[in-house]
Amino acid sequence: MILCKTISDLKSVLKAKRASNSSIGFVPTMGALHQGHLSLIENARQKSDVVVCSIFINPTQFNQASDLENYPKPIENDLHLLANINCDIVFMPSIDEMYPDGFLKLNADKLGDITKRYEGSSRPGHFDGVYTVLMKLFDIVEPNMVFFGQKDYQQCLLVKKIIAFHLLPIAFNMCDIIREDDGLAMSSRNIRLNTHERIAAVKLSKALFYLKSNWLKIPDSVLISNAKSMMTDDEILKLEYLECVDAETLLQNEAVKTKVCLLAVNCGGIRLIDNVLLP
Ligand code: PAJ
Repeated sequence: MILCKTISDLKSVLKAKRASNSSIGFVPTMGALHQGHLSLIENARQKSDVVVCSIFINPTQFNQASDLENYPKPIENDLHLLANINCDIVFMPSIDEMYPDGFLKLNADKLGDITKRYEGSSRPGHFDGVYTVLMKLFDIVEPNMVFFGQKDYQQCLLVKKIIAFHLLPIAFNMCDIIREDDGLAMSSRNIRLNTHERIAAVKLSKALFYLKSNWLKIPDSVLISNAKSMMTDDEILKLEYLECVDAETLLQNEAVKTKVCLLAVNCGGIRLIDNVLLP
């Protein structure tokens, strides 16, 4: 596995790979890797000749300084996991390398309305930061295909919009949500949950699985209200939103066939998100 810390190092390694016509699959991450991230690498491994993973904790997408400060950084373990899973290249740039000119951000508003609701309104500026760092990373890596997790569903829609708006020759792949045995979606934030919070957190996936298995059997409004109660009945959980909307536009649309149920909950101060596609 090759570790590149500068843009010029990475570009020269990739130039050699491209010269032999290798396809490049790219998995951007912020590190603190778990099985969810590794499943993206496995997907990329199957579809591309060369797998590039970036580890960069992007300061411009954090809307709370404490979240950025507390973000876990188990670098040695991350590199060990990536080497074991046959990742070819790890790109681990410094903040100066990625933001030589300060923290100027692109404005995701121009990509349409999908960034304005849900995570967009709960975390002002978040998608501007994601848009900015992904444009930089796509420009540096020039991947043929990229791999993102459904776990961050709205982020997946954003990436599709970026690719379409900027006419990038990149194939987008959305990969399944990887869960713990009890259903909790894997997340780098889960290690910050204490024992009580960890038990309460299971209710997020329970509510979503309840929605999925009863969809079209019970009126939507009753279903959603029951699913919400599963969380509001627990003192540890503060429900931010639970909505079932058009999977493409994120708007309410009774007629549409494919919906996504988006869920965000504050669990003892830690923000957790999850979702499920219907039917
Ligand atoms: P990060 O939170 O590290 O996530 C990196 C990728 O892993 C994302 O595509 C995310 O959706 C995916 N992922 C996280 N948990 C997952 C799970 N349980 N199952 C499947 N995939 C999962 O998302 C980011 O970083 C950043 O916003 C980034 C795109 C790197 C830009 O900075």
